[in-house]
Amino acid sequence: MPFNSGSSQWRGLLFCAVLCLSQSLIAGGTWELPPPPPPDEYGNILIDRTTKTKGIKPATFSHWMHRRKFACRVCHFEIEFNMKTNTTEITEAANRAGKYCGTSGCHDGKASFGHQEPECGKCHNGDKAYKKERFAELARLPAAPFGNRIDWGRALNKGLSVPVKYLSIKPDPEVSSFKEVLVLESEWEGIPPAIFPHRPHTWLLDCNNCHPDIFNIKKKTTKHFSMAANLQGDFCGVCHLSVAFPMDDCKRCHPAMQN
Ligand code: HEC
Ligand code: HEC
Ligand code: HEC
Ligand code: HEC
Ligand code: HEC
Repeated sequence: MPFNSGSSQWRGLLFCAVLCLSQSLIAGGTWELPPPPPPDEYGNILIDRTTKTKGIKPATFSHWMHRRKFACRVCHFEIEFNMKTNTTEITEAANRAGKYCGTSGCHDGKASFGHQEPECGKCHNGDKAYKKERFAELARLPAAPFGNRIDWGRALNKGLSVPVKYLSIKPDPEVSSFKEVLVLESEWEGIPPAIFPHRPHTWLLDCNNCHPDIFNIKKKTTKHFSMAANLQGDFCGVCHLSVAFPMDDCKRCHPAMQN
């Protein structure tokens, strides 16, 4: 029997499927969300692209430690770290020549510890939980249910977190004040839309971090954009699985969702 969307029987079935599915999705039953790390390890990574063959421990990097001082665009636009672990060609020679971690104003031996003995082990310790005791310094920031359990967006709005926006490449104030809120209608019947506010994204990121590589610059034209793709680390999932609040927080993107 060919699929006939006009048949009320099929409609009923489809409606139930969507509804039941969305309920179990909300319960986290259908789509596997990655198991959450402890809040003080969310966004912490070990960089071992070259160290694993050089007999030195991987470099540890903590997003919460750095993002309270620097906006994402400083590292992911100006310094050109990629938003995927182990894809940037960081070398010790480059660090010492003032690139990457060694950029002036960063680990240059003045603003923060540099690249000489005995500092090596502060980065090369292979410990994802390194300096976790300093997480307590963030206890005054507003709370959230997932990720670092910190509502970084509110912290920004209330001026409780004031990360530096640039080192040398100043964002164009006219462009970066763009704050259009987009209502991204879902392709599934009965699923409330996701809301995309350009703020706080444009406060923290450069337009270039998303356009055109991740998203087209026209609403609902990005191909293959779906929740399943988000959960695989594409689109919103580039950031909202590992550094920004994670996918578990359905209501923060779908405010009208029941749960
Ligand atoms: C501010 C953090 C930091 C400090 C301090 C640091 N490094 Fe590194 N280093 C890194 C990062 C990040 C990488 C890239 C790791 C990778 O891709 O595996 C790296 C890579 C390396 C590598 C492997 C790649 C290459 O270029 O040969 C060696 C060896 C190395 N560092 C030695 C050292 C030594 C020795 C010291 C101290 C004198 C030191 N590092 C200090 C961050 C640091
Ligand atoms: C002080 C520099 C710095 C800041 C600030 C920073 N990052 Fe990163 N980020 C890095 C480095 C370094 C890597 C690893 C790059 C590599 O290994 O190629 C990384 C990796 C990532 C990854 C990949 C994580 C993974 O699990 O693979 C994402 C996503 C990311 N950053 C998003 C962000 C967002 C969003 C912000 C702002 C809230 C931010 N970063 C702020 C330096 C920074
Ligand atoms: C965190 C990612 C992100 C950043 C950063 C970002 N955008 Fe967007 N933008 C989006 C998404 C998502 C869409 C919708 C794409 C879709 O639906 O296919 C969009 C759409 C747009 C649109 C089309 C709106 C419409 O109604 O069709 C414009 C214009 C735009 N962005 C401008 C900007 C500018 C200017 C900046 C920098 C100041 C910027 N964006 C930064 C994610 C981003
Ligand atoms: C390039 C990284 C990046 C991408 C891609 C991205 N975001 Fe974000 N988003 C962030 C960061 C960073 C914040 C600040 C809050 C945080 O870190 O938890 C944020 C905040 C938000 C907020 C504000 C929540 C609040 O209460 O303050 C919403 C809503 C949101 N993102 C939705 C989306 C949606 C929907 C998409 C995909 C269309 C998306 N984001 C893509 C990085 C990103
Ligand atoms: C970071 C933002 C974000 C979070 C968190 C999020 N979603 Fe979504 N979701 C989206 C976006 C954006 C779309 C619409 C994609 C499009 O334009 O087609 C979407 C679409 C959907 C759809 C419709 C199917 C589709 O692919 O269009 C379902 C169902 C859904 N989300 C369920 C959930 C559930 C359940 C959760 C919590 C476990 C969740 N979402 C959390 C951003 C998010």
